[in-house]
Amino acid sequence: LPAAAFQRRLLEWFDDHGRHDLPWQQARTPYRVWVSEIMLQQTQVTTVIPYFERFMARFPDVAALAEAEQDEVLHLWTGLGYYARGRNLHKAARAIVAEHGGELPVEVEALAALPGIGRSTAGAIVAQSSGERAVILDGNVKRSLSRLHAVAGWPGRLAVERRLWALAEHYTPHERLPDYTQAMMDLGATLCRRGTPECRRCPFADVCVAHARGEERRFPESKPK
Ligand code: ADE
Repeated sequence: LPAAAFQRRLLEWFDDHGRHDLPWQQARTPYRVWVSEIMLQQTQVTTVIPYFERFMARFPDVAALAEAEQDEVLHLWTGLGYYARGRNLHKAARAIVAEHGGELPVEVEALAALPGIGRSTAGAIVAQSSGERAVILDGNVKRSLSRLHAVAGWPGRLAVERRLWALAEHYTPHERLPDYTQAMMDLGATLCRRGTPECRRCPFADVCVAHARGEERRFPESKPK
């Protein structure tokens, strides 16, 4: 499927079936998008929402977060799990004050140099808060793309990871970056799910190689033993 057609189908699906009312989609500042992306790394949207709201009420900006004691940050994290995320968020806020004048940098390289921010999260922050073109490849996107193209091999292998990044890059548009990025996450989270994908409702069912083979469950491949 040509990239332009992929984008058109995805965005049409997103307009009708994607999520448009998430709190971090309102006032899409780099800070709010960053905090949301960290919370969403291992936790579902419905769980994250109240944590995100409390966090923003207490720490409305980078400076407030940097000035807080780590204990208070972790207290607001209680129940979300994976506390390294909270510790890294706090450490990164202090680094942003020390090294970036208190403003979150909105470039992939600078973001990915901060604690807790990998290349995909950095791309998600840039794409959603600046509208600049940036590519994401989180677990959801890896699953959708590996099924669409029946990408063989475990994504933990460098060659497989490179192939998936190349596909993600190929499909990423130059316009509507925030919507495209959220749409890719929504597609993986709501239709192209790990256990039972809902191919009947998928806008790519007719071009998905894994689906044509009846092998959705095989992709992405798991770690070889
Ligand atoms: N997982 C990571 N980022 C996400 C987002 N913005 N929406 C839904 N799930 C996500």
